Amino acid sequence: MCGIFAYINYLTPRTRREVLDFLIKGLQRLEYRGYDSAGVAIDGDECPSVLKQTGKVKALEDLITDQAATLGMDTLHDVHVGIAHTRWATHGAPSPTNAHPQRSDVGNGFLVVHNGILTNYKDVKKYLITKGYSFESETDTEVIGKLCHHLHRKHPDYSFRELVEQAILQLEGAFAVCIKSKYFPGECVATRRGSPLLVGIKSKDSRYATADFIPIVYSKDSRPRSASGSVLVKRNESTSELLLPETGTAEIEYFFASDASAIVDHTKRVIYLEDDDVAFVRDGCLSIHRLSRNADGGPVDLGPTSREITTLKLEIQEIMKGKFSSFMQKEIFEQPESIFNTMRGRVNFEKGTVTLGGVKDYIPEIKRCRRLLLIACGTSYHSAIATRQLLEELTELPVMVDLASDFLDRNTPIFRDDVCFFISQSGETADTLIALRYCKARGALVIGITNTVGSSICRESICGVHINAGPEIGVASTKAYTSQFVSLVMFALVISEDRISSNPRRMEIIRALRDLPQQVQQVLDLDDQVQELAKELRLQKSMLIMGRGYNFATCLEGALKVKEITYMHSEGVLAGELKHGPLALVDHDMPIVMVVMRDPVYAKCVNALQQVTAREGRPIIICEKGDEETKMFAKAAFEIPSTVDCLQGILSIIPLQLLSYHIAILRGCNVDCPRNLAKSVTVE
Ligand code: F6R
Repeated sequence: MCGIFAYINYLTPRTRREVLDFLIKGLQRLEYRGYDSAGVAIDGDECPSVLKQTGKVKALEDLITDQAATLGMDTLHDVHVGIAHTRWATHGAPSPTNAHPQRSDVGNGFLVVHNGILTNYKDVKKYLITKGYSFESETDTEVIGKLCHHLHRKHPDYSFRELVEQAILQLEGAFAVCIKSKYFPGECVATRRGSPLLVGIKSKDSRYATADFIPIVYSKDSRPRSASGSVLVKRNESTSELLLPETGTAEIEYFFASDASAIVDHTKRVIYLEDDDVAFVRDGCLSIHRLSRNADGGPVDLGPTSREITTLKLEIQEIMKGKFSSFMQKEIFEQPESIFNTMRGRVNFEKGTVTLGGVKDYIPEIKRCRRLLLIACGTSYHSAIATRQLLEELTELPVMVDLASDFLDRNTPIFRDDVCFFISQSGETADTLIALRYCKARGALVIGITNTVGSSICRESICGVHINAGPEIGVASTKAYTSQFVSLVMFALVISEDRISSNPRRMEIIRALRDLPQQVQQVLDLDDQVQELAKELRLQKSMLIMGRGYNFATCLEGALKVKEITYMHSEGVLAGELKHGPLALVDHDMPIVMVVMRDPVYAKCVNALQQVTAREGRPIIICEKGDEETKMFAKAAFEIPSTVDCLQGILSIIPLQLLSYHIAILRGCNVDCPRNLAKSVTVE
């Protein structure tokens, strides 16, 4: 949901060309967050230059190439600030005017890139109009730069950081912003509330490059110091700003980005900013101030704060496509490995034990709870549906599953003895995050199930499970789904550990988990067969996907994959509901996929199958290997390995991931960037 990136170099001379390359590369890494328009602002000769273009980052890159002659590409700078943005439109259609950076005035006094939604921008806009400002875009973002400009006119003595602090205290809603200004050359301010933002730090100076050296972050007593305790940079006591390092000159570069994938090309040393942190780079030093309000609602700067520098574990290869033609295809084919990684070090197949370090200390509390609530959106919600039955069986607790948006709309009653799970690949989905805060405020135990270390859901949860699927970049979620599924199964196994009566069932599941990665590979080997079917289906307008019991989630998730990347209508139908309406859609021509496994609902699924064939329906069946009896009803069949009933959904979703992928490719769709969508939905 919009990606922001900024680069600030200090005494590491760079040409404008290099700075633009950094910005474009950063935007390419963040493109999955939005791709309807993009823009950059870099230092110009007199005032900053801004370039914006509708379409993907490539279109912006082409514009830069066209304008290379006027941009003075080979000019060297000791200090340079560049900001960049890739947009997923919320306010105003995609256009160069609505693209970011948004400017305060024609002279580019203040330039802003923003991810999020300002809920009170209309009021701020009205106020600014009374002060003589006129607006050119339809965006909410435009008020930010104009507010800074207005405050700068009112308080010419304020530092850049103070101006931004004053401005953002007047804003409501969610934001991560980076701001650059012609009045404060070489400086950059970035801040967040509700949307993610990281700072990357890179220095050639060996003192600054060692892993435990924190040269620029204030410790609790506001004195900047290294981890070993020696003060390495001075602080100006009257202004609270950091001064240059005492000895020598640091060559230092900073990066601000919406996520780590845009930073890892340059450095692995990052700080995850928290809500109301204001990060300010001046004279090569970074300071982070905390912002609050006093009892009258007035702004209070709580002063500089310390933030831990984290070393990213992410490797660049993990965010490259490698031999695959798209991230989605790569991520589908990575599933044997990603599922293995989810279980690595947690499931001991010999001893039949499961350990989840992140929730271990809370198990007694969870066992005493009133009920479990699983809250999520989209694919992550489907992983909750997929595992609800097993959770009910092994925990013997009531399990509620909710879409985060609906959960919030209903003001659902929450109690102190509830245990609430928030499942999210990105860890940043606004609806899920707000639901988490809602439950936390009511005293429930909140548990995050995420794939993104350092994400908001990760940090705001009381405890959690990291699914370890590796970065998922394709907008359509695939490997995160199967890893979320496995994580929730592991949780059910942990909770039922000391119940002797559940032991045979637990052991059956643990044995099946051991074989799962290899069975996933066997399903992936059906790829050619799936591609042949995709050729037949590629011109269809609609597709029904039916099943029940443990495989109902497969139908919902399969239908979501088909609609989001092929733009074909698709519906996941609970086979038990067939005769209550969907049967009316069945005829000789309607493509119907039915998931029919030899599990406790097999006989009921066969009833549905017969109801379909009796109406001349010609189902494509996903069934267990060697199930000739079921295959007799089928127009076509995909045979997948048998596993224990509660894990079968991990295997049955894979033919549908592949089918949606191949249909989309045959229809000429961009599978990694489906229209109108973005990964990481940071707006409600
Ligand atoms: C579908 C898809 C979305 C996400 C949903 C939640 O392929 O990717 O439906 O699952 O936006 O995202 P996370 O899991 O990041 O909270």
